[in-house]
Amino acid sequence: MPQPNEAIVNGKRILLVIGGGIAAYKALDLIRRLRERGATVRCILTKAGHEFVTPLSVGALCGERAFTDLFDPQSEFDVGHIRLARDPDLVIVAPATADLIAKIANGHADDLASAVLLATDKPVLVAPAMNPKMWGNRATQRNVTQLRADGLQVIGPNSGEMAEGGEAGVGRMAEPLEIVDAAISLLGVSSSARSLAGKRVLITSGPTHEPIDPVRYIANRSSGKQGHAIAAAAAEAGAEVVLVSGPVQVPDPKGVTVIRATTAQDMLEAVTKSLPADAAIFAAAVADWRVATPNTQKIKKTKSGAPSFELAENPDILATVAKRTSGRPQLVVGFAAETENVIEHAKIKLQKKGCDWIVANDVSPAHGVMGGDRNTVHLVTMQGVESWPSQSKDDVARQLVGRIAASLAGPRG
Ligand code: CTP
Repeated sequence: MPQPNEAIVNGKRILLVIGGGIAAYKALDLIRRLRERGATVRCILTKAGHEFVTPLSVGALCGERAFTDLFDPQSEFDVGHIRLARDPDLVIVAPATADLIAKIANGHADDLASAVLLATDKPVLVAPAMNPKMWGNRATQRNVTQLRADGLQVIGPNSGEMAEGGEAGVGRMAEPLEIVDAAISLLGVSSSARSLAGKRVLITSGPTHEPIDPVRYIANRSSGKQGHAIAAAAAEAGAEVVLVSGPVQVPDPKGVTVIRATTAQDMLEAVTKSLPADAAIFAAAVADWRVATPNTQKIKKTKSGAPSFELAENPDILATVAKRTSGRPQLVVGFAAETENVIEHAKIKLQKKGCDWIVANDVSPAHGVMGGDRNTVHLVTMQGVESWPSQSKDDVARQLVGRIAASLAGPRG
């Protein structure tokens, strides 16, 4: 049955490399799901992949023969491995076995799959699937880190029972629909396809200022660039966007309703008034504490020394919205600004705040994220962690909006 986001990948060409693992059977479903959404799917089966699914079944689902050999005179004559590498808009490797990952990480080209992966200049999405011990092995982890460093996207693996039974752990291939969602975002089609048309999206951005007295305040280094870029990308994608912004220097994005808030308490009030929304993204760096009773007059220096202030904890806006029992947005996304153990802290925040996703980034001064134009983020969901390559804040915004659109349109909502 066609899915609501069918139009999003209409006409896109996907090359699917099927490696040799028990999860290869899920690749058949993946082909079906991608084609349902209008993509053209071409497949390469590795030699080991043959052992799990046949070229005949793959070919029947793709609507054209599966490619198998590097030196197959027919396929070399028809297409050639360089064209196979260049033609698609996106290459997906699913399942990606430990061996295939090692080959990609090290630039091998001794079979059709690895040669095409070496020759391609298109985005590559890798869905690992293997035994948990193989996944946990340092060599595999090293290779996966290399893939990410080389700009490939890795989705999963998930944790759970292995298909072969009897063993549980991290190693299950991401589900076909998760791979489809990631593919949609990588295809970067959100803006042209107006993938958020008809959706209302609420975004917080920038710092908050918590007054000490009429002239002084507690603040942080957030510039609002990332939150504002998300608002702009969501508006470009056709959403009705409400941006609740703390005090920032960046201009208001076009086509967005901007509500200004100074303190965390103002921001919570503005957010609550702006609901309902289909998706809410909390990119603001909200001050955790405020001065319990700000001075009504400017505090003067006295002989008795520096003043001290009693602090009060601010409301957690993200957690308040994520934990609403009625009128909760379908998708609630938080950010995690961390200076160490980024992913571990983000996973804890995901649980603690009750949101659906956390976009985690390292805001140590050395990374120049706060106030800078680039960002390196990890998308932490209940399904796992995806590390995105270092890119401009605008590109992070577009990729995130693509994911949000896919999630809102998808059967899992
Ligand atoms: N957040 C919020 N309201 C707060 C504090 C944080 O809405 N009072 C949101 C931020 O917008 C972000 C997420 O919660 O989406 C995490 O913010 P972060 O500052 O990283 O975490 P904290 O909850 O403040 O935890 P800590 O400072 O201990 O890391």
